[in-house]
Amino acid sequence: MRSVICRLVFSIAILQPSAQVSTPDSPTYVAAVVEYSPDTGSPGDSVADIVSKNVAQYVPLIRRAAEQEVDIIVFPECGLVTYGSSTKFATPLPHPDDRVNPCTDTSSNVAEAIRTLSCAARNHSIYVVVNLPEVHPCPDATNWSSSGVVYYNSNVVFDRNGTVVARYRKFNLFGEVWFNITSEAELSVFDTDFGVTFGIFTCFDIIFEKPAVSLAKVLGVRDVVFPTAWYSELPFLTAVQAQASWSYGLDVNFLGAGYSLPGEGSAGSGIYAGKEGPLVTTMPGVPTTQLLVAKVLKKTPRNTTPVLENVWNAGDSIEATPSPNIFSDVHRDNSGIWMMRDYLEPYETLLLTETEFFSTHTLCHNELCCDFEVAMHTDNQGQNSLGKSYIYRLAVFDGIRSYTFKTGGVQVCAVMFCTNNSLSSCGYEMETDEQERFATVFDYIHISGNFRLNNSLQLPNTLLEDYKVLSADAFEFTREEIPGESEVKVNMRTKKQNLNLLTFAIFGRDFSKDGGPVSQPSVDDTNHATVAHLLSPIATLLCMNSYFYVKFLV
Ligand SMILES: *[C@@H]1O[C@H](CO)[C@@H](O)[C@H](O)[C@H]1NC(C)=O
Ligand SMILES: *[C@@H]1O[C@H](CO)[C@@H](O)[C@H](O)[C@H]1NC(C)=O
Ligand SMILES: *[C@@H]1O[C@H](CO)[C@@H](O)[C@H](O)[C@H]1NC(C)=O
Ligand SMILES: *[C@@H]1O[C@H](CO)[C@@H](O)[C@H](O)[C@H]1NC(C)=O
Ligand SMILES: *[C@@H]1O[C@H](CO)[C@@H](O)[C@H](O)[C@H]1NC(C)=O
Ligand SMILES: *[C@@H]1O[C@H](CO)[C@@H](O)[C@H](O)[C@H]1NC(C)=O
Repeated sequence: MRSVICRLVFSIAILQPSAQVSTPDSPTYVAAVVEYSPDTGSPGDSVADIVSKNVAQYVPLIRRAAEQEVDIIVFPECGLVTYGSSTKFATPLPHPDDRVNPCTDTSSNVAEAIRTLSCAARNHSIYVVVNLPEVHPCPDATNWSSSGVVYYNSNVVFDRNGTVVARYRKFNLFGEVWFNITSEAELSVFDTDFGVTFGIFTCFDIIFEKPAVSLAKVLGVRDVVFPTAWYSELPFLTAVQAQASWSYGLDVNFLGAGYSLPGEGSAGSGIYAGKEGPLVTTMPGVPTTQLLVAKVLKKTPRNTTPVLENVWNAGDSIEATPSPNIFSDVHRDNSGIWMMRDYLEPYETLLLTETEFFSTHTLCHNELCCDFEVAMHTDNQGQNSLGKSYIYRLAVFDGIRSYTFKTGGVQVCAVMFCTNNSLSSCGYEMETDEQERFATVFDYIHISGNFRLNNSLQLPNTLLEDYKVLSADAFEFTREEIPGESEVKVNMRTKKQNLNLLTFAIFGRDFSKDGGPVSQPSVDDTNHATVAHLLSPIATLLCMNSYFYVKFLV
């Protein structure tokens, strides 16, 4: 099927060469991201050999994308050198201001891989984004013969001529102790001949304010390229979920390309249209190389009022309609993805009991109170009574969490999945042999809370059982600054009935707390799980603040 489509497109491209590239006047551009399972080489191969083998895989992918009239293609983090190669391979990269074209300028000081990829971009007249280790003289050294060098985890962008038009050095390293970072986060952007300016950041950068949020907030970028080698974490940070969430929350077109090694937790790529939702995503459970292509509607440039808080939220109306996907050869096999789990024990939570048909609750943790309205029922039609289903908890957290290599301030209001009545089972999936089960149907969920405004970000966070996310028409997400208060009221509600939901949450970051000590469970909180059982649905419906009852009963 796929090859038929490719051939069809190829012949159209030949017949209508003028339609081949997007221009500044086109309302759309065509993007591709590569979910990429690298060639890890044969025994005895050097990292340079492995790089050559992966370059040899990249070139036909670039050609295939160009045949589908793609304007820009993004490859994942680590894809050329593979995991664990540290800096055994590293190349000098020219400064974008120098407009070096490694394909035509054979005297330029770059690795052969860079030259070949530059030629591939040029031959196929397509923007190409790749990630690889960069070596550079120490910042205080003047030339290569002086001894010291530094290594960066860098992205490099070639334009349609093969010229290096951007270079970005990852700022938030996930461990990766062999790499250096720049003294300040680089706000790296590049313009294109189709009238779109892209911002660049890499993997773990998506968690932090700089450079990711600054690109949108300070520079006003509406399009982002994102090479990643992600480690998925339940219930809030699986790969596609994190990409979709950021894209929606900042209303930015987002091209995320993921390294595919599900057995070590890495999988997940997608093209997302901000508040218009995901256009195409994949999260395969077996190592997979897959070209995802979508036509992306350009967003109107943002009026940037630098330094002003929350500029992206001020009168930023959305005029766009979703653009149709083209050629999304997506399939999924979830069985093999190695998942991390968030440390949920410090959360204030409340079990949603099966008897509750409609309930309202207020739950607080530290300074954050979340209001929940939930209507749910269990659909056991055609199933025997031994069938199992997910169990859900309302959850609130206001504190500092660990991201393994850094810590960060977080404010969360969530409905999240569990496998039994204990909080310790939340964020773990059911065994596949438990698949014969009946479904929990959420007729309605409404979550709201007042989040801290300063130096913060609130994102809608959704996850379905197949590791996809809710489409944009399935929910509503609004932020409303409260005049005179240092808070923002955030509302998130479903617009449809939902089955197979794992997570439905407002996930807030509080960047001012980044770097602080991780929050621990409070001692008197350990029983809140069982206490929730004692609440009758009627009592819960009637009381304004069930949190009071919970505390009272304790
Ligand atoms: C680019 O095109 C030239 C001329 O056809 C060819 O020799 C070269 O192998 C191509 N290189 C790449 C990377 O596509
Ligand atoms: C390179 O730097 C070293 C040490 O700073 C210096 O001794 C040497 O003269 C420099 N070479 C050139 C060609 O500038
Ligand atoms: C590519 O090179 C041609 C000719 O040198 C130039 O006209 C064109 O603007 C360049 N394209 C880009 C995207 O820089
Ligand atoms: C670069 O990183 C290495 C490894 O962590 C470190 O030893 C070195 O001091 C760093 N260099 C600079 C200039 O920061
Ligand atoms: C609940 O699930 C957790 C995690 O899977 C498990 O450790 C615990 O034993 C289970 N508890 C009960 C009562 O089944
Ligand atoms: C907001 O955050 C910035 C940066 O952390 C800080 O300098 C400033 O004092 C904060 N403003 C308020 C009103 O809290």
